Amino acid sequence: MEKDDKQRIMLEKVLKEHNYQESALLEILHRAQEIYGYLDKDLMMDISGSLNLPPSHVYGVVTFYSFFKLRKSGEHVVTGCLGTACYVRGVEQIMEAIEQEFKLKRGGSTADGKLSLLLTRCIGACAMAPNIVVDDEVIGKATKEVVTQKIREVLGGVKAET
Ligand code: FES
Repeated sequence: MEKDDKQRIMLEKVLKEHNYQESALLEILHRAQEIYGYLDKDLMMDISGSLNLPPSHVYGVVTFYSFFKLRKSGEHVVTGCLGTACYVRGVEQIMEAIEQEFKLKRGGSTADGKLSLLLTRCIGACAMAPNIVVDDEVIGKATKEVVTQKIREVLGGVKAET
């Protein structure tokens, strides 16, 4: 049996234990992180489907709590907040700049798998809008220059891996 299958069976057991209740989302995410080591996009999609929750809700919860890891070591995740305040303050232009420069689409990853671009709803920091999360760091009052520079840094390994 593949390692991935074993992990999926363990996750299914956790989901069953909680009767696929959306109110158990936090506990399920914790257990999923214990099983997989991190919560990537496919896993969040899997959990959102199993609990019948919108993927944006699951992304929002995962990106809100710093104890959740979105990536394997060596991979980087950028999450744009598309809540109203961030949208009004121009997050869309920053997302477009990221997509162009790093050649990926929102919801996807670069061809080498080193960078993923996700979306979330409001992360609760509207006063600092627009917000972009680069790995574990929230960049408030973000500009496309600051964000793309930060992404270049993390991809270049300037930032220490956690
Ligand atoms: S809308 Fe982005 S932090 Fe609230």
